[in-house]
Amino acid sequence: MCGIVGYTGSSQAAPILMDGLAKLEYRGYDSAGVAVTKPEGGNIVVKTKGRLSVLSDMIDGGCALQGTCGIGHTRWATHGEPSTVNAHPHHNDDYSIVAVHNGIIENFAELKVKLTDKGYSFYSQTDTEIATKTIDYYYRKWGDPIKAMVSFILRVRGSYAIAVMFADLPEQIFIARKDSPLVVGINGGETYLASDVPAILKYCRDIYYMDNMEIARLEKGKATFFNVDSKIIEKKTKRIEWDVESAEKGGYEHFMMKEIHEQPSVIENTLSCLLKDNSIDLSEGKVTDEFLQSVERIQIAACGSAYHVGVAAKYVIEDLARVPVNVDVASEFRYRNPVFGKHDLLIVISQSGETADTLAALRGAKENGVKTLAIVNVLGSAIAREADMVLYTKAGPEISVATTKAYSAQLIVCYAIAVRLAKVRGTIDDKRYTKLIKSLQSIPAQVKKMLADDTSIKWLATKIAGKSDVFFIGRGIDYATCLEGSLKLKEISYIHSEAYASGELKHGTISLIENEVPVISVITQPRLAEKSKSNVVEVKSRGAYVMSVTLSGNYDIGNSVDFCIYIPKTEPCFTASVSVIPLQLLSYYVSVTKGLDVDMPRNLAKCVSVE
Ligand code: AGP
Repeated sequence: MCGIVGYTGSSQAAPILMDGLAKLEYRGYDSAGVAVTKPEGGNIVVKTKGRLSVLSDMIDGGCALQGTCGIGHTRWATHGEPSTVNAHPHHNDDYSIVAVHNGIIENFAELKVKLTDKGYSFYSQTDTEIATKTIDYYYRKWGDPIKAMVSFILRVRGSYAIAVMFADLPEQIFIARKDSPLVVGINGGETYLASDVPAILKYCRDIYYMDNMEIARLEKGKATFFNVDSKIIEKKTKRIEWDVESAEKGGYEHFMMKEIHEQPSVIENTLSCLLKDNSIDLSEGKVTDEFLQSVERIQIAACGSAYHVGVAAKYVIEDLARVPVNVDVASEFRYRNPVFGKHDLLIVISQSGETADTLAALRGAKENGVKTLAIVNVLGSAIAREADMVLYTKAGPEISVATTKAYSAQLIVCYAIAVRLAKVRGTIDDKRYTKLIKSLQSIPAQVKKMLADDTSIKWLATKIAGKSDVFFIGRGIDYATCLEGSLKLKEISYIHSEAYASGELKHGTISLIENEVPVISVITQPRLAEKSKSNVVEVKSRGAYVMSVTLSGNYDIGNSVDFCIYIPKTEPCFTASVSVIPLQLLSYYVSVTKGLDVDMPRNLAKCVSVE
């Protein structure tokens, strides 16, 4: 996600901003920029697409910009593709107001209409420019920066960490925060701000954490905090004991665990961009209801975990929308000379948007005149650029090679497609449509609940760590979850594992089950519970050590296995989002128990952009 830094003090600001942005590079970005208040007054903005080194060359490492107050930004594109014009800082027409922002302004389109009616024009495709001009509008109206920031907070919907400089208030920076982190540090006569601790840790360890709907005025060596009633509030600092490296991981030991814990907010962010007035709206991806009505068959092509999302999506789409779905690993799909129908839709799923096999599958379908829809995490990636329609996951940059939060975000997008498809095809009524949307909105809280206490999973991991083979078994959507759980375990713990449709075990593989062989059974589909339970009995009777992930209340299953994790009851179609969490945690702790490199497993790359 984007990175923000700011400084006001007695030193030159630009070198400090560049240093802070460098500490935030780990967050992933596609463009960068800084703004500084000039000694003679007025703000200057320098920004560019590409790496920080390009920006640094433009300003001679910061030395070319004079001024002791400034803000900086590294951008992870969410609205508007990566480009210099879309890079931050953004500004009003005369640069008297400049701003940097991390987050998503959900009602940016509505605000843009209002501002256009008031004579504003726009140079970029970003929600941040709209946010900046919204502040400009209120500053012109009130003539007071705090009132302008309060009006901004009350007017926008979404998430933001925003830092603003007003040219007529030199040496001051105004900030506000909702859902996107923002911290402030003061050291002597110097005041620092950042979206994350690593950027300012070298200057100060006593940090103010902005809370939601709070505003601050930052001056040299001073911060004044306000609530949304413009009342001054007292805040206490927190002492940071971390070193910089662990601070990049938000205090977690590995990026993977940090990203596992980001899943509730990632799911919420992704869903918020697919809902409008409590109805699913896929128009941001140009996926119209008319088009959905014309689809007679869906083909899904993806790799690895993204393929597993496709397997889960098949069950959900066919169950809800009654549209036939074929799923294939992209490396097979691209070479098997697939048969395309006139009203086929090819969906490709990819976190990186650069996976060679998936890109080839997309191109092959387009050559055959098939409409294509990409579910991608990286704006401006090859797959995003070449697909006819794109729905973005809002997972932010995923650093750990083993995907978790992007996988969860991809599931959410697939659920939204399935539910909208079912609605427009009339295979679900309004009552079920509303209920399904409410179930989608409850997923973040259910995931958060699964993350609250992983003590028992840590214990199980010590038991699994010494094993050489692990089996995952499940039926229906649970089989898709088993595929993902098995891959997670293999790729970061190097333990061989297989995922099996439970009903298929007895056709050969059950011969491998013997005393103490670990079998992980996922049982979340009420309709299939009895069948799945009998498969558990089959492996138990052959000596297997069985762990089950099942719905709370399924005590008959819990009492028939050696170890049970209960997940909150949820819409059966969406259980994959919750049941995968203990499997992610299990693979993480097994890898840690074995002392392996969790974030950078051997032989693997984050993006397989070659065949
Ligand atoms: C998942 O943990 C793996 N890193 C890998 O299977 C990955 O899902 C696969 O390479 C697809 O990558 P993509 O989503 O970027 O296309």
